[in-house]
Amino acid sequence: MHYGNWWTVALSESVNDERPLAVVCDGEEIVLFRGPGGEACALEDRCPHRRVPLALGVVKPGGLQCGYHGWTFDGATGACTAIPNLHVDERVPPRYAARAYSVAEGQGFVHVWIGAGAPSGELPSAAYLAAGREFTGTAIANIAYDEYLAVMLDGPQCLLAFDGVRITDFFLGDARTEEGRIVLDRGAVWKTGMLPPAFVTDHPLIVRTTLPLAGGGIRVELLTADEEAVVTVFIGASANRRGTTSLCWRGYLQPRRLQAAPLRWSAARAAGRRPFRVAHAVDGAAIAALLVAPSRELAAARAGHVPASLPAQRQA
Ligand code: FES
Repeated sequence: MHYGNWWTVALSESVNDERPLAVVCDGEEIVLFRGPGGEACALEDRCPHRRVPLALGVVKPGGLQCGYHGWTFDGATGACTAIPNLHVDERVPPRYAARAYSVAEGQGFVHVWIGAGAPSGELPSAAYLAAGREFTGTAIANIAYDEYLAVMLDGPQCLLAFDGVRITDFFLGDARTEEGRIVLDRGAVWKTGMLPPAFVTDHPLIVRTTLPLAGGGIRVELLTADEEAVVTVFIGASANRRGTTSLCWRGYLQPRRLQAAPLRWSAARAAGRRPFRVAHAVDGAAIAALLVAPSRELAAARAGHVPASLPAQRQA
């Protein structure tokens, strides 16, 4: 059985009460929209009548109306609330319901509970507290989800970049487990116009990657050597179709001035240029060349992880 987790499926601003949004998360096809009170709703993206994607429909005051025959489904329960041309004496049979998911919103993300068990535990983005100008985005990356997590540990430079910074291959200690997450620090240096040396021993920066043992909320931070945050990025990642990965992210630059930064970096920040980029297209050759190292520990930890939603007798 697939035990449940909260998954980060969309940016809050991507979900509205006008156009439904289709997403694929952990292999499940879901349609998101907002109900009459502005609450985010999630239904299986298949009409229970003829299996047409509900994302092709329209949002109405009573819920999401299928674009084919016009049945309407309540966003909170999935119950069919209206069928066109139904006689005034006829009632909608309760079995005509779409599958509804539990939804929670926080830190500018929409989260959906996928799998068995009652929703529990903190939201993946709970620790993401933006304190500066935010930069956001979404993408479907051309890499399978499990590999996305592995590469985020073995070679994060293949998946994202911090402007003006070179992420090195030098680990600053072993991967460690903290509160149900794997954390790895890696040395980073400011880019210069000169050719970089093959081995760098002085790392003025740290790239800290934090990956969950369950669910797909990834945190990547650029820190000074004194572990003061410079840039913080939170990425919601999950399996999409055909070996691809759904991504949505928010990140921000710490508002305080960084004294030790190169002039060019400071000028780019003053001009409002984005401090990081999340890759949409992944370089297969670069990934194939990566050593499989800390991702082994992640795979082992995820395999042995007991989900919070597991019934008590199974946790013993
Ligand atoms: S397929 Fe949706 S109402 Fe018929």
